[in-house]
Amino acid sequence: MSSPLPRHVAIVMDGNGRWARARGGMRADGHRAGVSPVRMVIEECVRHAIGALTLFAFSSENWRRPRDEVMSLMSLFVESLEAEIEELHRRGVRVRFIGEREELDARLKASMASSEQITAANTRLSLQIALSYGGRSDIVHAARRLALQVERHQLSAAQLDEPTFGAALALGDVCDPDLFIRTGGEQRISNFLLWNLAYTELYFTDRLWPDFDAPAFEAALQHYAARQRRFGLSAEQLQAADAGAS
Ligand code: IPE
Ligand code: IPE
Ligand code: MG
Repeated sequence: MSSPLPRHVAIVMDGNGRWARARGGMRADGHRAGVSPVRMVIEECVRHAIGALTLFAFSSENWRRPRDEVMSLMSLFVESLEAEIEELHRRGVRVRFIGEREELDARLKASMASSEQITAANTRLSLQIALSYGGRSDIVHAARRLALQVERHQLSAAQLDEPTFGAALALGDVCDPDLFIRTGGEQRISNFLLWNLAYTELYFTDRLWPDFDAPAFEAALQHYAARQRRFGLSAEQLQAADAGAS
């Protein structure tokens, strides 16, 4: 049941601050150095025909960082988006944002909306950028939306099943990630895609995000290809199914 390439890769891009500190720089320098690996993973996904990529850029908890750092991240998001959007469009990437937009500043919100609009019809790679995103908040919002439908008699409680709930989430129209990558050495989810990661293969690397290069991404893909995904079945059942298929 394992497939050599993931259809959807989700990445927690962690370690920018430590990368900068190790060089005697400011945390903001680390975030800036993190732009080039973003470009690389997008290119590699397009090259491998991986259909979906979701990047964790800023969590709902990251608002608690010092104001200076939050401001520099927000400026970097606007600047990078405005600089990259034409190229992304040219490459056939559809860009979408998931997370709470209300608190973002007007210019960033406008750049996000126009990037989504410009690239809406692209089909080569579906790129989701999680910005001001929290997995728990995503679940609560879905529950609220569905509760409203029940209140309005558009849905009955008995009709509420896993596919219906999953479809109400931010990634409702994207398949669950096959491969989760976290750089920076921490082995945790940090409130990323809680629902969608139920059966995702997890890959952790000590490499800090600004140092994550194409060979490092390739190594993650190779680890993924070597995993046996069982989805609750026994290894013997999978062997029997494979023998039947060939
Ligand atoms: C990840 O790098 C980027 C964001 C969370 C926005 P960090 O800034 O968390 O870097 P470390 O973990 O402190 O090294
Ligand atoms: C997770 O990294 C969020 C992003 C990479 C955007 P953090 O650095 O915020 O995670 P914790 O706080 O170490 O768990
Ligand atoms: Mg971190």
